[in-house]
Amino acid sequence: MAKQKKNRTLDALASLCKRRGFIFQSSEIYGGINGFWDYGPLGVELKRNIKEAWWKDVVQANENIVGLDCSIIMHPRVWEASGHVGGFSDPMVDCRACKKRYKADNLCEDQGTELIEADGTFELPEGIKCTACGSNDLTEPRSFDLMFKTFVGPVEEDSATAYLRPETAQGIFAQFSNVLSTARQKLPFGIAQIGKAFRNEINPRNYTFRSREFEQMELEFFIEPGTDAEWHAHWITERLKWYESIGLPAESLHQDIHPEHKLAHYASACTDIAYDFPFGVQELEGIAARGNFDLSRHAEFSGKSMDYFDQEANKRFIPHVVEPSAGVDRIALAVLCNAYREEWIPKGGGEVIQGEIGKRAPEGYEMRTVMRFAPRVAPIKVAVFPLLKNKPELVNKAREVFDSLQRCWPCAYDQVGAIGRRYRRQDEVGTPFCVTIDFDSLEDECVTLRHRDSMTQERIAISDLIATLHGQLA
Ligand code: GLY
Repeated sequence: MAKQKKNRTLDALASLCKRRGFIFQSSEIYGGINGFWDYGPLGVELKRNIKEAWWKDVVQANENIVGLDCSIIMHPRVWEASGHVGGFSDPMVDCRACKKRYKADNLCEDQGTELIEADGTFELPEGIKCTACGSNDLTEPRSFDLMFKTFVGPVEEDSATAYLRPETAQGIFAQFSNVLSTARQKLPFGIAQIGKAFRNEINPRNYTFRSREFEQMELEFFIEPGTDAEWHAHWITERLKWYESIGLPAESLHQDIHPEHKLAHYASACTDIAYDFPFGVQELEGIAARGNFDLSRHAEFSGKSMDYFDQEANKRFIPHVVEPSAGVDRIALAVLCNAYREEWIPKGGGEVIQGEIGKRAPEGYEMRTVMRFAPRVAPIKVAVFPLLKNKPELVNKAREVFDSLQRCWPCAYDQVGAIGRRYRRQDEVGTPFCVTIDFDSLEDECVTLRHRDSMTQERIAISDLIATLHGQLA
């Protein structure tokens, strides 16, 4: 029952995202391509707001953190040094009966158990069946390479093989010395990057959650060896606060602390920040203490020094690193899931009821779909309406107000249909404020300001509008 309700939420959200231009299936006119998604006009604004909030709070608000933008295709040796070539794979299982392919750990997890791992090899526990056809004729888990390969130059020969980056982090490590010598930073300091990454996931699923092309926001925070635990704790606290600042409630956020036996051999700690999605609690961001593994490996493979010289202590060493690594698309999906509401509004006035998703409103109620985005991430901040579209004096005034607001925020202008319907259209895309220009506005230079969440309205002077909205949108 609970699961059914949860799937209804995701289905209803996906339908709204398509209908209102947040998310489309990639190459939809050709039947789509599994694991790839496109963001429509509103989705792209939502994603930009998330990335801008991260850049502002992580990079611009910290004088010891600088940005970087690396190429997606790098020298193939980068991926040998990082351990991705030969080592970046997922164990997969095929059903011999119906040919469906699974990520072995997901298949086990879905059946309430865990993949057995010993000395780097994997085994399925007793009784695991194909979810699609029920057969227990499954192959042993086999490694499946997650990196996308391509060729650089006109000839498809091995020497020209390159990879689409599976993470943005390695670009940061590879450019560590250049940034260190140009940005004049002392430890502790960070290098941040936002960009696309690619993984040939065995089983893309849960809408946009597990995609083959995705965007990361990664910070490599370089520190003195021995301070790892303290900086790891610092970044967990900072990042949890940040998620709340974009509207995800504390009670929907979880910390998933990786037990020691599940840590990569070079990591001393890893904590995931996870969100309570309609399909379960899943990772938004991993915060790992990676020691000096990456820089040491690049020093070894490139033959170039990755040392940091501490002038005060007169000592040279390879810094350690703490890495908060977040998935933009996962955060966008969490923000969308969190915002989605179906509310039942009593027609004769009275208390609004939080509706059950996918269910009709009871007799005497009307349903409104509303995206309760935090203003910080809402794609459109203000919508402006003339009361009537066939009265030039109202339209002119509304255009004047719209032009002045549009200089400050992304705004929408709508003059089609009854005012109530126009409010509903904006509720559905999460616009926090609507401004209506009526006949009184022509006399008193005031407008009606309507609030999305409470649906209350107030009369406000046009001359005060920008200051008021600045206050409320901050
Ligand atoms: N750099 C960590 C990750 O991509 O998951």
